[in-house]
Amino acid sequence: MSNSRKYLIAGNWKMNCNAGEGAALASEIVAEVGQQTDVNVCFCPAFTALETVSKELSDSNIALGAQNMHFEASGAYTGEVSAEMLRHLFVSYVILGHSERREYFGETDVVVNQKTRAALAANLKPIVCVGESLEQREADETIAVIKTQVEAGLAGVTAEESEALVVAYEPIWAIGTGKTATPEMAEAVHLEIRNCLAGLLGEEAAGKIRILYGGSMKPENADALLAQENIDGGLIGGASLKAQSFASLVHSAAKLAQ
Ligand code: PGA
Repeated sequence: MSNSRKYLIAGNWKMNCNAGEGAALASEIVAEVGQQTDVNVCFCPAFTALETVSKELSDSNIALGAQNMHFEASGAYTGEVSAEMLRHLFVSYVILGHSERREYFGETDVVVNQKTRAALAANLKPIVCVGESLEQREADETIAVIKTQVEAGLAGVTAEESEALVVAYEPIWAIGTGKTATPEMAEAVHLEIRNCLAGLLGEEAAGKIRILYGGSMKPENADALLAQENIDGGLIGGASLKAQSFASLVHSAAKLAQ
């Protein structure tokens, strides 16, 4: 991680924790790391827990995130939630294009792009996820896949807007499997992503964008991953559901930020 960027540790709770359970987990995490300022921290509960979690975070330095949104501002989109609805609950980050959304809900790069631009226009900070499958890695297609996802997902985003942008590299084969990319493997892809961002937005803007690693990040492997030059934080699934392990990831990043 470079000095010009601040670490971001983001929890992705996925479809776990109802409103009450979410508030309880949030309050435990606030007690552990709610006042530290060395690292940006956010977590992303399900929509139904946003309001109760938001209340728990109100006197802390932890930000609230969502796991998805629709790109339209309002209208006949049954089951969907808009950026403005999220803003109303004090949400500041939104995960977009997670591989589970791409795989199970048919989200394409075009949709991810529409959502990213709508999020930026609504002053939300999008965490745009990219990542290759095991088959693609084995076929030596990782870099091509990532480049396509980054270029298509961020088409039309300006350098000025990109200050709010976060990218997450999540190799699909490492998500929830306990398998992690080695720090070197992850860093190689992060560097490619940074170069790709420089091509789209210019070196200066690209140097400011945080690129998170996600995929079985946990206290035992976080130090080595976060120490890499182009790894600026983590998008954490399983390990974000326990206050102790999530707090430990925040501490790892805080130590490296000194
Ligand atoms: P994991 O999930 O940490 O459980 O692998 C990461 C993610 O999907 O964001």
